[in-house]
Order: sequence, then C-alpha cells, then structure tokens
Amino acid sequence: MRNLVNILDLSTEEINGLVTLASDIMERPKVYADSCRGKILGSLFFEPSTRTRLSFTSAMMSLGGQVLGFDEAGSSSVTKGETVSDTVRMVSAYSDIIAMRHPKEGAPIVASEVATVPIINAGDGGHFHPTQTLTDLLTIHKKKGRFDNLVIGICGDLKYGRTVHSLIAAMSRYENVRFVLISPEELSLPDYVKDDHLFTGGCEYVETENLESAIPSLDILYMTRIQAERFESREQYERLKDSYVLNKSKLVMAKEDLSIMHPLPRVNEIDVDVDSDERAHYFDQAMYGRYIRMALILMLLGTEGIDDRRLDGKPRPGKSCHNPHCISRTERGIKKLFDEYGKCVYCDQYVE
Ligand code: NCD
Repeated sequence: MRNLVNILDLSTEEINGLVTLASDIMERPKVYADSCRGKILGSLFFEPSTRTRLSFTSAMMSLGGQVLGFDEAGSSSVTKGETVSDTVRMVSAYSDIIAMRHPKEGAPIVASEVATVPIINAGDGGHFHPTQTLTDLLTIHKKKGRFDNLVIGICGDLKYGRTVHSLIAAMSRYENVRFVLISPEELSLPDYVKDDHLFTGGCEYVETENLESAIPSLDILYMTRIQAERFESREQYERLKDSYVLNKSKLVMAKEDLSIMHPLPRVNEIDVDVDSDERAHYFDQAMYGRYIRMALILMLLGTEGIDDRRLDGKPRPGKSCHNPHCISRTERGIKKLFDEYGKCVYCDQYVE
C-alpha cells in the first residue's frame, strides 16, 4: 500500500508519470470517468479548506467514485477526545483511500501506521502539503515546460507555509534550481527544510527581505499568505501581516515570461490588479489541482501490494518533542522517536 505523506515519497519518475497522466486526463476526461466506480474516498478535514477538499471531492467524483467524511473537526468524534489513530482505523473500514488534513504536524504519519488503505496528506500543520506541490509541479510543467534551470522566488511566510516546505523538497531534486527566499527574518525557512532539502540537494539559495530587488531575476514568483492561524501571538501577526503586497508597479522590472503562482487563498499579498496580467497563473494552478489529484488517486489505488510504511527512528530516554504543534505531544499511545540527527520523526523539528 502506497501513501503520500511527504512529497519525497514519490520518485521524480513517478512525479513525471503523474504529470503525464494528469495532462491526459485533462485532454480525454471521458476515458477516466468510470475508473474508480465503486471506490470511496474518505475525506477527513480537521482544518478549514476550500481548494484542497473540493478538488479531492471533484477528482474522486470525476473518476466515478464517491466521497464520505467531514469538513471540520467539530463534526467528528475528535470533540469527544478520539485519537487520530482510532478515527483513521475506522474510516479505513469505510473507504478505499483517505485524504486527511490536520493541524498537528506528523498526524498523517500516525494515520499511515494504522490505516489499511492509502493515506494522502492534505496538509499537516505548518509542516508539509505534498498534493499542493503536485499541483504546483503540474503548473510549472504547463507554464515553463521544465523543472530544471529555474530561479524560484518564494515570498511571504516561509516559516509556517507548509506548501513552501514541500515545494522546496520537490524542486531541490532538479538540476540548477536556485531559490530566492523572501521573508521577514521572523518568518524565515525552518532549519529542517534547509538541512534536509537545500543542503542535501546542494541547492543554491539566497535569503532576502526585499521583494522588489529580487523580482528581476526570477522565472517563478511563488507568493504565500502569512499563516495567521499558526502564530503564537496576535500582535506578531498584526505586525507582519502586510509585509509583502505584489502589485502591477512592482512587476515593471519582471521577466516577460515570469510565472506568478500562489497556492491560495490570498489575503492582501497579491493585489487584484495583478489578476489580469498574463503572468498571473494562480487561478490556473488551482484548476490543475483537480486533475493531478485524479492522477494521484488512480496511482495510489493501482499500487496494492506495495507497503511503504516506515517509521524509522529511536527513542531518546527522557526526551520528547518540544514543538507545540507536533502530533507526538497529543496523540495517546504512540512512540516518541527521533532520527540520527535528533529530529522528531513526526514533525522533523530538532529536539535540541
Ligand atoms: C494552502 C494550505 O492550506 O496550506 N492552501 C491550499 O491548500 N491551497 C495555503 C494557505 O492556506 O495559505
């Protein structure tokens, strides 16, 4: 059984296969209209969502399958104190594949340990969001025609932006990809993303607070929302919320073939006057989400017999994860495990 918890669960060949399949689905949707007849997607959203949840629902329905689940934790037994493990164990018995979004980092890992059907991580706290990355990759393929030789500017909340972490993990595997990381210092990229992806991938990157001066060098500008719901203090969010606003005048020095992307929802960070610019690709990006998720569901349902569960780590006597958003702090009955560098296996944060 295959899961998609981290974008690196997929090889680059598998990603190419998904992009090709999604493109074929877009061209010939009727061919796939019955491919999941009789199959059920469990859609477990413990956190708000518009695009991800609805595009998963649309994807399963477009394949002839059905969907059950909930769209807020308040309507599930979580309010009665049920663990993620117990909820997922049950929904495994009612569905053939599960897409889940949860505010706790590492929750999909816990789910994949007990599930008897494939688990898809639809966003876990401020950690990862691999299916948004698949959507981003399909967009990059359609708009730029390549995954290599790109200068990618990522702007906004790089600390809590889970789409950013997964995008960097995916793109750092390609040749000559350079990142320009644009954020206030307080919202800069976490060390675990730098260590596991930028350093490991040997990727060049620069960090800056200045969007205007970065724009002329970019092939892609990936804007992100400041993640209000993850801040420890409202005051800090209020201070940082309008750090960046992309508007038409800031694009004067941009490349003619720049691709402006955003996982959406946007708040203030892209002015609506940019929407009419041919380089604004964020609504196409959201549209591609349906087709790449159709491809993903087909792939995961077609790989029965393979088991990729791997919770690889060791306990450290007397140590537990200090990340307040980590699932290991709230889920009862799971082992607290760390990798050889002292990172929690659930949320990837360093324990020391
Ligand atoms: C993103 C998310 O949920 O992380 N949205 C999405 O899935 N398209 C980005 C965000 O909420 O800012």
